[in-house]
Amino acid sequence: MTDFIPPYPKRHAKIPGPIDLIKSISDDLLAIWPEGAFERAFMDFKIFKKSIFVANHPDAVKYVLVSNQANYSNKISLVSKALSPLIGDSLFISDGEFWQKHRELMMPLFTAERMGQYSQSIITVIEQRLQQWQSLPSPRPIAMFPEMLSLSMQTLWQIVFGKPLTTKQFELLNGYFAHYYQVAGQIDLNSFFGLPSWLSGNKSSKLEQAAQAIQAIFDDHIAEAEKNPQANSLVADFLALKNAAKLTSNTEIRHELIGLFMAGYETAANSLAWSWYLLSQSPAVEQTLFNEVDTVLGKSPVSIDAVDSLAYTRAVIQESMRLYPSMPLLLRETKAADVIRDKPIPAGSIMLVVPWLLHRHKKHWDKPDHFMPERFLISAEKTPNPFAYIPFGAGPRTCIGKHLAMVQTTLTLAILAKHFRAVCPAGTRLEHECRLTLRPKGDLPMQLIAR
Ligand code: HEM
Repeated sequence: MTDFIPPYPKRHAKIPGPIDLIKSISDDLLAIWPEGAFERAFMDFKIFKKSIFVANHPDAVKYVLVSNQANYSNKISLVSKALSPLIGDSLFISDGEFWQKHRELMMPLFTAERMGQYSQSIITVIEQRLQQWQSLPSPRPIAMFPEMLSLSMQTLWQIVFGKPLTTKQFELLNGYFAHYYQVAGQIDLNSFFGLPSWLSGNKSSKLEQAAQAIQAIFDDHIAEAEKNPQANSLVADFLALKNAAKLTSNTEIRHELIGLFMAGYETAANSLAWSWYLLSQSPAVEQTLFNEVDTVLGKSPVSIDAVDSLAYTRAVIQESMRLYPSMPLLLRETKAADVIRDKPIPAGSIMLVVPWLLHRHKKHWDKPDHFMPERFLISAEKTPNPFAYIPFGAGPRTCIGKHLAMVQTTLTLAILAKHFRAVCPAGTRLEHECRLTLRPKGDLPMQLIAR
């Protein structure tokens, strides 16, 4: 048990007034929630004329995301508008029959059983990074967040295309993605909450340019994969679906692959960066993790089988995703009028499910703001309520990459922590940045010390 309470934004007595709320939505989506929001079961408020509801009890979350999910669409026209120049009408933002068809086609590629096929790619990329770390003098400064971003993108690239991503290609892609996230995120949130369009400025042409640059890179690699197929690559599976006439074109494949990158690389990097930070602040947790990785990874080559034995490492990741969920706010639009907890929900209103609130809810967690990975161990006294802990969402729209993300993040942390401890400069209080995703603010400078 640790007494470490990681930083979180100041909680006000009530939801800010319209001007401060608009500012908060643009600056920091976590700062809008008052103290009471971490105790309440259901909430509603208005921004201009838009009615907004928050399902904040596990039963209400289950209702919105599972039992009556068909009434709560996540193809929200304004959000789709910001993302569709890049990923078209792909899984992440589609709805109805199109979504159903693509989800059914893609699910078999992401099952827990399928992870064995990708594990060697994952381990190879992590071990290459380990060698780079080992080739430099210890201690050495490191920008941990960019390091996790590049590692996460390289891992995903290897899985998707079956070949390495060069540093230059990473810098190019990461630059375009970062630009796209920044511009689209602004349009997304402002328009979603019904804020005036002038707050977003005229950003569509910048968005188009970034989208085209990313698409050109993917198009080249898909064409190359068609000529030169790589075994055990996701692109080969997608091309096989096209050859079986289940997908129509390379453009459709490109939309899905970029969608997977958009949804998967930053989220995994966030979780890893937060985990390194939390470990650095909690010597007892860090030591328990070191003991586990030393025992489990031992001297034999690492394989996917290790993941099942890395229970504490996995718990550290799970606890870091509880405290800092990469997607801290899930947005839905109500199709037909409904009633939840006796409250009428008009058609067209916004329904929010907020992992940031649920994961720190005082009625569902002991010491909700403390960093305590042991709560996720099988031996824990209480099992977390599955609808109060939803880092990957829940129901039919649950994250398709969740098994991949857990294998990837657990192996990354374990393999690197077997050889290195990462230390923050004294007195570091890590701040966050929250728009559509919740990431550490800045580069997260740390010192790597060989163990
Ligand atoms: C730690 C890492 C990750 C986190 C925390 C995460 C979180 C989430 C969440 C919360 C959702 C549901 C959004 C909603 O209901 O509105 C989601 C959906 C999705 N995620 Fe992830 N994700 C992660 C990694 C990945 C990876 C590695 C991939 C793929 C390579 C991926 C692909 C997707 C896709 C395609 C969807 C949309 C699924 C659908 O609507 O059918 N994610 N993710």
